[in-house]
Amino acid sequence: MGHNRAERQQQLRSAAKESWIARNEIGFSVLTYESVMGVLRDKRWHSATGLVAQMQGIRDEDFGRRRRVSILNAEGEVHVRLRRLVAPAFSPRSADRLRPFMREVINQLVDPIAAKGEAEIVADICEPYPIPIICELLGAPKEDWQLFSRLASDILRIFSDNLIEIMPIIIAAQDELNEYTRGLIEQRRNVPLDDLLTDLIKSEEAGDKLTTDELEMMVEAVIVGGTDTTRNQLGLALAIFAEHPQQWEMLANDPSLAPRAVEEVMRFHGAVGGTIRFASEDIEYNGVLFPKGTFMSTSMATGNFDASVFPTPEKFDITREPVGQPHLSLGAGIHYCLGASLARAELQEAFVLLSQRMPNLALNGPVDYKPTGVGIFGPASLPVRFDPGH
Ligand code: HEM
Repeated sequence: MGHNRAERQQQLRSAAKESWIARNEIGFSVLTYESVMGVLRDKRWHSATGLVAQMQGIRDEDFGRRRRVSILNAEGEVHVRLRRLVAPAFSPRSADRLRPFMREVINQLVDPIAAKGEAEIVADICEPYPIPIICELLGAPKEDWQLFSRLASDILRIFSDNLIEIMPIIIAAQDELNEYTRGLIEQRRNVPLDDLLTDLIKSEEAGDKLTTDELEMMVEAVIVGGTDTTRNQLGLALAIFAEHPQQWEMLANDPSLAPRAVEEVMRFHGAVGGTIRFASEDIEYNGVLFPKGTFMSTSMATGNFDASVFPTPEKFDITREPVGQPHLSLGAGIHYCLGASLARAELQEAFVLLSQRMPNLALNGPVDYKPTGVGIFGPASLPVRFDPGH
């Protein structure tokens, strides 16, 4: 784990034993399981994820006409309506129909490295994995994987800390994606298919439908929410398993452990360690008054090690009995990860095949972690070796 990050997490986990709240650079952090849940489930705490750009000095004008509501930071009625319209398209059933495709993608990525018995698994497996899935989900053809990959990388730079300089690149990519999406929408309106975009176009409640602008926003949200998260979570998982060979072997021998293994990996080290909220009004919680405008980080990484919910939290154990309370790494409350079923399916399928095709997985050099920036965390490179020929 990145040295500073590991130390900081250790500090927060110790602090959480003394107090449910700590000060940070922008306001406060909630640290215990109960208080992270408490904030995420309280609708008076609004998403501050859309303010990250503003905090870096980006003004509304810099976005021009493009600054529009995203599902990730919409609140109130606007959010309820969007969520209600899109939720059926993100059901476990829709995720399940992609499982055979996920297996195909994983197998194709493993084929060229299987005989070698070594790999830099971030570049070889984790990075490329989510793009074909998202394309298949949306119904974009294989010829466009590269285009998608490029646009996704540019749009994901929204998580960088030098936004002012790179804003033009991001906006150009957003424009190109929107134009592309409009073309796809046009095609699906004429010829509906069995894909997410068709579902979103058809989704309707009491005569209400998503507008073209909202469909474009959803496609962008799927790319922003569904690519870097998945690849980093898979990278973190493999780094953990490389250090827990017995658990890797258990998984290979018993694929029915995969769903639990995914939950345990996400609890143990989630790719999204926290998110941010601000008080939309004066809020009293746990006897403390937080004035309107107060910023609040919710430390899921700390809440996931709360011993009152997860006994012996330091122990990584894929056979851990479910405690009836979920880990926090997919969020909670109204902004709970919309892609949760898809993310789980992607990781489960990857775990099963990789554990079988890469027996005796072990580190083959030091893991290099990404800098801890805004949001998503995982390995930048992860050299491994394993038994060849599977
Ligand atoms: C392992 C992979 C993933 C992780 C760790 C993850 C994590 C999260 C978290 C923590 C949130 C809540 C953010 C907040 O409350 O501020 C969230 C929201 C969201 N995620 Fe995921 N996610 C993953 C995969 C996906 C996938 C595959 C998709 C798309 C298909 C997706 C789409 C979204 C969207 C659209 C939201 C916003 C929902 C809303 O605000 O109503 N995510 N995700």
